[in-house]
Amino acid sequence: MRILVLGGTVFLSKAVATEALRRGHDVVCAARGESGGVPDGAELVPVDRDRPGSLEPLRGERFDAVVDVAKMSVNWVREALRVLGDDTGHWTFVSSCSVYLDHSTPGQTVTAPTLPPLEDDPDAEPTSDRYGSVKVASEIAVRDALEDRAFIVRAGLITGPGDPSDRFGYWPARLSQGGRVAVPDAPDQPAQHIDVRDLATWIVDSAEQRLVGTFDAIGPSNPLSFFLGEIAGTVAPQGTELVRVPLDVLAEAEIAPWSGPRSLPLWLPETHLAMMFHDASPALAAGLQVRSVGDTARDSLAYELSLGLDRPRRAGLSAAEEAELLAAL
Ligand SMILES: NC(=O)c1ccc[n+]([C@@H]2O[C@H](COP(=O)([O-])OP(=O)(O)OC[C@H]3O[C@@H](n4cnc5c(N)ncnc54)[C@H](OP(=O)(O)O)[C@@H]3O)[C@@H](O)[C@H]2O)c1
Repeated sequence: MRILVLGGTVFLSKAVATEALRRGHDVVCAARGESGGVPDGAELVPVDRDRPGSLEPLRGERFDAVVDVAKMSVNWVREALRVLGDDTGHWTFVSSCSVYLDHSTPGQTVTAPTLPPLEDDPDAEPTSDRYGSVKVASEIAVRDALEDRAFIVRAGLITGPGDPSDRFGYWPARLSQGGRVAVPDAPDQPAQHIDVRDLATWIVDSAEQRLVGTFDAIGPSNPLSFFLGEIAGTVAPQGTELVRVPLDVLAEAEIAPWSGPRSLPLWLPETHLAMMFHDASPALAAGLQVRSVGDTARDSLAYELSLGLDRPRRAGLSAAEEAELLAAL
C-alpha cells in the first residue's frame, strides 16, 4: 500500500509510519519536520498546515490510505479532505475520548453524547472542552466527506516510549528509583490507556483491512491500584513503598491531578472519574490487541532512562516536591 501520514515526526504518527514501513508499505509523511525526523525509509514532504493551500504539493497523488492526527484544527482536516479525499481508499482520523460531554458516567460507548462542534479560533484558550469540541467538528467533517471510508479512533490516554506529555512515564521513572513513593489515595479510581505501538498497529491493520466506523481506541479499564502495582512489579526495586497520600493533603499542597508540573499523573479529578472507564470491547472485538501494563512500563522506562531521570519534566513531582509532601504526612 501507499500510505500518507499527515504527521510522522513524533509519537503516534511516527509509530504509525514505523509500523507501516515494517510491513513493507510505501510511506509518505507530510509535516514541517520541527518535532523530529521521519522514520528511516519514509519520504518527508515538508508542509506547514497553518499556511493556506499547504497540502497542494500532494494534489493528484494517489494513496491507498491517509492517517491524519490533526490535533486541534478542523481547518486542517477540511483542507486535507479537499485535496486528498476523493482519491484515497481509506482514511483514519485520530480523535480523542475528550469528545464526550460527560466524563462522570462509567462504561460509556461511542453512542454517548458529545460536546457541541466548534470551529478553529486561534485566539481562544485551548481548554480540554475546546479541544474536544474541535475534535467533534473534525470528526463530522471526515464523516460528511467520506462516510464509507472513514475510520475514526477516539484515543484515550496514549502511553509508551516517545510520549512527549511525560504523564505515564512519570510512574515507571519514579518507581524504578524505589524508596517511599507518593501515590494518590484513590486505589479504586479507574485507569485506562493505550500503548502507542498497539494503537499504531491497529491503525495500520485497519487501513489494510479497510475497517471503517467510530471507535474508542483504548484498552480495558482497571483500578489505579492495579495499574500502579503492575508498573511497580515490573520496574521497582525490592523494598519500594507506595505511600497513599490522602486527597485532601494533595489538594492542600496544591498537587494537581492528571498532568502538568507539580502533579500526580493519571490521578483523576472527582468530576472526570469516567474519563478512564470507557468500554473497550468494541475496539477489542474489531481487532485492537493490547500489551500488558508491565510491558508498556518496561519500555517507557527505557525511554525515560535515555532522556535522563533527573531532567525537568512536563508532568509529575520533582524529588524535592515529593519529599516535602511525604514529610508533611
Ligand atoms: N497523547 C494522548 O494521550 C492523546 C490522547 C487522545 C488523543 N490524542 C490524539 O492523538 C494524536 C497524537 O498525534 P501525535 O502523537 O503524532 O502527536 P501530535 O503532537 O499531535 O502530532 C503532531 C504531528 O503533526 C505535525 N504538525 C504539527 N504542526 C504542524 C503544522 N503546522 N503543519 C504540519 N504538520 C504539523 C507534527 O510534525 P512537525 O511538528 O514536525 O511539523 C507531528 O508529526 C493527536 O490527534 C491527539 O489529539 C492524543
